[in-house]
Amino acid sequence: MKSFPSPSMVSILASEGLGLDVVGAGELRLGLAAGADPQGIVMHGNAKSDADIQAALDAGIGYIVIDGFDDIDRIDALARRKTPVLLRVSPGIESATHAALATGGKSAKFGVPVEQVPEAIARMRAAPMIDVRGLHAHIGSQILTLDQFEAEVAALGALGEFEVYDLGGGLGVRYDLDLLVTAAHHHLGTDVELIVEPGRSLVGPTGLTLYRVVTVKRAGQLHVAVDGGMGDNLEHSLYGQRFTPMVVGRWDEPEVVADLVGRHCEAGDIVTPDVRLTSPQRGDLVVVPVTGAYCFTMANNYNAALRPPVVYCADGQARLGVRRDTMEELLAREVALVTVGSAV
Ligand SMILES: Cc1ncc(COP(=O)(O)O)c(C=O)c1O
Repeated sequence: MKSFPSPSMVSILASEGLGLDVVGAGELRLGLAAGADPQGIVMHGNAKSDADIQAALDAGIGYIVIDGFDDIDRIDALARRKTPVLLRVSPGIESATHAALATGGKSAKFGVPVEQVPEAIARMRAAPMIDVRGLHAHIGSQILTLDQFEAEVAALGALGEFEVYDLGGGLGVRYDLDLLVTAAHHHLGTDVELIVEPGRSLVGPTGLTLYRVVTVKRAGQLHVAVDGGMGDNLEHSLYGQRFTPMVVGRWDEPEVVADLVGRHCEAGDIVTPDVRLTSPQRGDLVVVPVTGAYCFTMANNYNAALRPPVVYCADGQARLGVRRDTMEELLAREVALVTVGSAV
């Protein structure tokens, strides 16, 4: 749900038999709107409010992931029947990824550190409304080496035997999944329910962004500025993520090195710096592949930009999934709008 939070996408994945992991009541609402089976939904989240937990209990989702001792007390107080839960473990693995994408290290804000797990399990087993089914871990995102996942499952395997293991997401590439399952069976046994969260690796490569070049300017570096940027893609500004943009229709023309920049009022508004582009001209279309994960998620109205639409394409057919924002929507949440002259 996190990597592409649109019911238009979720309904496609749910129809393929996938479940959902959600972080709170909002994502749960979107998932249910898409017709996802509540039993296939897992809710994690490091700071779940009572309202988040209540929404999960009301929907009867598959598992709530306990992220800390406060969650144990909250669920026990709010639940009216025994509720299946997993415990998120922070395995103390400093994963080889951008610091902002590492979630399983010793001082991570997520989960319960391994050394506190026995106490947490004892507290959960003593709580009348809690049914401990298993463990959850997520060590970070964009992980490209299996060793780190192997260390994760080994850390979980050392904590006792459980029926369910949720190994989180973070798969940088899709084919790692088979290797991960093999490692999990090796460390955790084969008679277990395994959950993985491959959202990013599923939706990332399937999405691309199409921009129009608004202006081309040389100021030291060549700047090719497009009609989007931080409003629809925060990946470079947040994580230094690079993309491989291409100028549509100029496939074989001579290359220049340029910064592909956005239209927002920030020097950091860069889609990808120092990138090769073939003769970019004002009015050209630029396509940026592999923007399917987290770009739609973090799209925003910075500089009152209208968030772009989402269009699904297959076999020469296109269909609108999410329409573009409208100017009226920019004002929709204003409740104290007064025009100049009428202000009291
Ligand atoms: C529990 C959980 N699942 C999944 C993710 C994201 O995984 P990915 O980058 O593979 O989408 C996170 C990120 O913090 C997470 O905490």
